[in-house]
Amino acid sequence: MAESKSDDAYKVLIVDDSLQTLEVIQRNLNANGYDAYTCRSVRDAVRFLSESTIDIVITDFKMPRQSGLDLIRHIRNNFKDIEIIMITGYPDIEDAVQAIKDGADDYLVKPFTDAELFDAVQRMVEKLNNRRTVESKDKLAKTYGLIGKSKKMQHVFHRIEKAASTNATVLISGESGTGKEIVARAIHYNSERRRAPFVPVNCTAIPDTLLESELFGHVKGAFTGAKENRKGFFQIADGGTIFLDEIGDASLSMQSKLLRVLQNKEIRPVGSPQILHVNTRVIAATHKNLLDLIKKDLFREDLYYRLNVIDVNVPNLSERGDDILCLLNYFAKKFSNEMNCRMPVFSDNVLKAIKNHAWPGNVRELENLIQRLVVIVDSDVIQTADLPDAMRFSASSTADGSLKLENVILSHIQQVLTKTKGNKTKAANLLGIDRKTLNSRLKKTEDSGNYG
Ligand SMILES: Nc1ncnc2c1ncn2[C@@H]1O[C@H](COP(=O)(O)OP(=O)(O)OP(=O)(O)O)[C@@H](O)[C@H]1O
Ligand SMILES: [Mg+2]
Repeated sequence: MAESKSDDAYKVLIVDDSLQTLEVIQRNLNANGYDAYTCRSVRDAVRFLSESTIDIVITDFKMPRQSGLDLIRHIRNNFKDIEIIMITGYPDIEDAVQAIKDGADDYLVKPFTDAELFDAVQRMVEKLNNRRTVESKDKLAKTYGLIGKSKKMQHVFHRIEKAASTNATVLISGESGTGKEIVARAIHYNSERRRAPFVPVNCTAIPDTLLESELFGHVKGAFTGAKENRKGFFQIADGGTIFLDEIGDASLSMQSKLLRVLQNKEIRPVGSPQILHVNTRVIAATHKNLLDLIKKDLFREDLYYRLNVIDVNVPNLSERGDDILCLLNYFAKKFSNEMNCRMPVFSDNVLKAIKNHAWPGNVRELENLIQRLVVIVDSDVIQTADLPDAMRFSASSTADGSLKLENVILSHIQQVLTKTKGNKTKAANLLGIDRKTLNSRLKKTEDSGNYG
């Protein structure tokens, strides 16, 4: 009973026990570019819906055996995205009201004209389009330039989503280079505040003497050099988000000032008698363990609890499995585009080394490495010889679980080199050997062709 048109036409299912009504509506819709299908009973419609993807259902209310209401309930329970138009006879307007309550989106009262039919269908199409645009935008925005498919990153995405839907303060923790700032931006740009500013403030960088004026602003003449009124970060971010980066480095005097704003949502510019109300959301980040700082009396416990309403922990790169390779591809593409050159290929040993490396500098370290490789390596294939020493060594690591003494020694040296970021003198010191011995060990690996 189907008459198919094209793949992008909207698919409409008409359900009515009257063959004549079905034919008229189907002909009209097909003639206007829709893809119309018909069913003569609720039972047929239920089966049809289980096998096909339909955008809009037009159903009669009164049918023998099961009614249109049964179909509406079935659709609402199983296919939340389908738009439903209910057809009802004039005296049954109360049924229409019930149908809308049960989940129909619109109704047509018999007898209706072609124009009324098209209007109703068109309204449904607009609803579908709006919803689909919002959904696809949401999908795009939710990851906001953040690459990652691993379970741990999925968890981060969930937290971002949750944080974006509220005004609560957020505390982002994670080691250096894991992506704390990009997470903070993702929260802001997915929230209702996205059109107001996102203002990053590095708490380490503000000297105590300038602190109040930087955060809360000042009025002309408040102090020597205050030549005019100036807004502080909190006011600049009014309606938006202030990002307090490296909050673990904030001095105790800054902490007490921040606590006051969080409690009262009020600021007083330096030298001003006036108190200003601000609607600024606070997101803070730190690579330090604030609970440790609290124990040492370096961080205020009350501020910690004010900030930590929603916490987001950004995992180390080494905990993200294959995300490393996704990021590698992403950065390789990005930098070769920027450089206007062909995207390089990475040899298997390079990929192995990259996967085995400990990445103490996390995503930023990977990003810098790929950028350097794209810029300096002339050939199309990147080999282990192009990698920094600490990483070249990973290519010959004991990933196969070999317990040969030689391999265990190599693996240990590799770990130490990673720790010292490739600094051989420091590594030799830690290993209790001299640099020459270290070099000859490394050379032995090279000669045995363990990487290349
Ligand atoms: N998941 C990701 N996808 C793509 N790029 C990322 C991702 N995570 C981080 N980056 C990039 O890595 C770099 C470091 O990220 P970011 O500055 O957010 O880290 P951070 O945790 O704030 O580091 P630090 O503690 O050193 O300030 C940035 O260039 C960022 O764009
Ligand atoms: Mg940062």
